[in-house]
Amino acid sequence: MKKKIGSLFVILIMFFASLSLSLAQENGNARKGKFLFRKNCRACHVSGGSAKELGPNTKTQAQWDEAFKNIDKLKCKDQWAQLSEKDKTDIYAQLWGHAFDSPSPEKCE
Ligand code: HEC
Repeated sequence: MKKKIGSLFVILIMFFASLSLSLAQENGNARKGKFLFRKNCRACHVSGGSAKELGPNTKTQAQWDEAFKNIDKLKCKDQWAQLSEKDKTDIYAQLWGHAFDSPSPEKCE
């Protein structure tokens, strides 16, 4: 009986893990976001660029949340204004999904 409960628990965990993964993917396309970040943000946010170097792993998920909530307070809000809502969601998916404290942190290269 104990064994049965254990495997049920594992199945439940796997169910919720895949559910949250598919939700994240529904909200934004991280692969597109990576491309869009390179195209629209990297020009300035690169080491030796006009702004400080940024990549998914330069912030935690909470910090990316904060940044995306306060876009109109950023120095580069005019650059952001040229992006569609969908583009921003895709960039968010990439940055948040590969943030410093995410399961798969990534640099922007
Ligand atoms: C024309 C140059 C330029 C572009 C393009 C640009 N930025 Fe910025 N960004 C800046 C500058 C300048 C600052 C303020 C100084 C700094 O933080 O380096 C800034 C600040 C920021 C900050 C706040 C700094 C921090 O660490 O919290 C974030 C986040 C940010 N930009 C993200 C982005 C993203 C994402 C994009 C692409 C959608 C982007 N920027 C495009 C120039 C740019």
